[in-house]
Amino acid sequence: MLAGDGIGPEITRQAVKVIDQVCKKTGYMPEYGEGLVGAVAIDKTGDPYPEETHNLCMGSDAVLFGAIGDPRFDNDPKAKVRPEKGLLEMRQKLGLYANIRPVMTFESLVHKSPLREDIVAGADFIAVRELTGGIYFGRPQGRSEDGNTAYDTCVYHRYEIERICKLAFGFAMKRRKKLTMVDKANVLATSRLWRETMQELAPSYPEVEVEYMFVDNAAMQIIQWPKRFDVIVTENMFGDILTDEASVITGSLGMLPSASIGVHTSVFEPIHGSYPQAAGKNIANPVATVLSAAMMFEHALDSEEGGRLIRRAVEASLEAGVVTGDIDSTDPASTEEVGDWLAGWIEKS
Ligand code: IPM
Ligand code: MG
Repeated sequence: MLAGDGIGPEITRQAVKVIDQVCKKTGYMPEYGEGLVGAVAIDKTGDPYPEETHNLCMGSDAVLFGAIGDPRFDNDPKAKVRPEKGLLEMRQKLGLYANIRPVMTFESLVHKSPLREDIVAGADFIAVRELTGGIYFGRPQGRSEDGNTAYDTCVYHRYEIERICKLAFGFAMKRRKKLTMVDKANVLATSRLWRETMQELAPSYPEVEVEYMFVDNAAMQIIQWPKRFDVIVTENMFGDILTDEASVITGSLGMLPSASIGVHTSVFEPIHGSYPQAAGKNIANPVATVLSAAMMFEHALDSEEGGRLIRRAVEASLEAGVVTGDIDSTDPASTEEVGDWLAGWIEKS
């Protein structure tokens, strides 16, 4: 359990209630450990991803992660160490190369999307975002001596592209067998390596229809015609941007979970951030974290049943109108109330 910053502690607390109930039902005996990460870790240890936290993760079957980030650092571009560095270091050290972000709609929520109901109803795709390469990690990165020039470098190696494309093909095979690769191959050398690698892999998956799309076009099509997508695979930064955009389809950023599949262990986290304005107020939506726990049961603990129980509980809560203010501002439930309701539903089911 890495609660992290902002609303992290209160939303992960709700997920734990839910996990405990699922474990009672399915016969798992969870053993929890808690670690520091992000701004809280900087405050207590000076390091946003302390060695102790890393060791804890390495020894875990799965990691549930809340959020990272603090306005104290956002507004200080000169800060020597940033909470986000902890997240990036964790991704790199745990080898979390693939971030799976499912984008779906809930029947009882389609009218909440700022997009027209006929556009979003039935949309169901997953974004497979490369997570340990690209411009987030490329070197050199920095400033010139006079401080007037800054640079980031986008680097991709063939093996990094290959492993994530293979994973994406695997998802496509289990779904509607359509894979869209998003890149900027008309401009970027890294994107051309992505395309070349994908073209080499595609013949091994004859059943999967592969298409290539430039990222600017994809940004438009995701909003205009989300139902056309099944599996999207893309590089780190394009994936970051497109998945925030795609959350609009679901109706609230507070609903979207993710799984980061790794070499050493896997991390499950909501795609929203630390939402500092809401921290400690008991108003944040815990569902993205709870659904991340569902992905944890499915992907890391090999329990389809655990995942299904949680998903059904979430659907029931939406139908019952037990939702936080981001979804229903007139009669919102608190973070705790939603967590208790979900855990109670699973207990009774
Ligand atoms: C995300 C977040 C992170 C990212 C930030 C907090 C570094 O936006 O997980 O999408 O950019 O990867
Ligand atoms: Mg992001």
